[in-house]
Amino acid sequence: MTGHLLVVGAINIDLVVPVQSLPGPGETVVGDALQRHGGGKGGNSAVAAVRAGAKVRYVGAVGDDQLGAGALTDLRADGVEASDVALKPKVATGCALIVVDAKGENQIAVAAGANMRLTVEDVETALGRSEGWTSTALVSTEITPDAVVAAVKGARARGWLCVLNPAPVIPEILETLDLAPIVTPNRGELRDIYRLLGGEGDPDAKDAAAFVARHTGAAVVVTLGSEGVLVCDAEGQCTTIPARPAARVVDTTGAGDTFNGVFAARLAAGDGLLEAARRGVTAASLSVEAAGARTSMPMETEIEAATAAQ
Ligand code: ATP
Ligand code: RIB
Repeated sequence: MTGHLLVVGAINIDLVVPVQSLPGPGETVVGDALQRHGGGKGGNSAVAAVRAGAKVRYVGAVGDDQLGAGALTDLRADGVEASDVALKPKVATGCALIVVDAKGENQIAVAAGANMRLTVEDVETALGRSEGWTSTALVSTEITPDAVVAAVKGARARGWLCVLNPAPVIPEILETLDLAPIVTPNRGELRDIYRLLGGEGDPDAKDAAAFVARHTGAAVVVTLGSEGVLVCDAEGQCTTIPARPAARVVDTTGAGDTFNGVFAARLAAGDGLLEAARRGVTAASLSVEAAGARTSMPMETEIEAATAAQ
């Protein structure tokens, strides 16, 4: 079954320098030739979801510049419906400066630009247009905090399933956590949410996720890098899904976005929590095998083949 998914989040152009090792503070490292890729957690997860077989509408903002035109061309080339993207005059399109080392680890600094001009009205208009078309939304937080809150509240008010990728964690998500979004933090983000909710000490991922799930009343899915994901349901019952070992780790940029896009796409198609997470994990492990956030995001057939081979 094909799922319909609305993705709300940032879109960037990624400028990437491959280096031997990541620079420390004040250090200059010299790498190979500059690479340019489509990026941003919203744009990336929209592409991952389309490749996994979903119909996807993307909601975000670009500047009225060449980078913005390129970002939209990239999205549409992948089959993402982008008519709800707001064009913001006199603002630069989002741009990420990324350094990737020989082990595939990265450092990222984002110039958010137009992503931080996405308004509540932009989001509410887009959600209104998708009534009757979708019942699942995926929201990430590299955009205006008010837009994040409007997206989660608007999705839940319509009775839609809402996956909230809190990357990065912003305090404003506190306004949405009692609306039962399925939250998908990585380890560091889980710790930040735990503390935002008043948690004390430094519990392990399972206890922290169960604590967050008790507050949200919904599942919490923690991405654990090469260890896979931890899925805790609304009752705090936790299951670990180990990562499929990658053939070679070239670039982990966008692995989380791949997981989120495929996970949300599979939920939209009617999969249960664990099955959707399994597909997301397999897709994310395939995505680390080439440079760039989107280059090696797999198609549905590749996810099927890798799942069958496990
Ligand atoms: P990012 O912000 O870079 O997109 P993230 O921190 O949100 O990533 P991670 O936990 O690093 O997310 O990775 C997401 C998922 O990708 C993991 O849960 C795992 O399934 C897969 N993954 C990441 N790194 C590897 C790896 N080295 N080998 C196999 N799978 C990996
Ligand atoms: O998650 C990876 C993404 O984070 C990159 O594509 C970059 O644009 C930043 O938003």
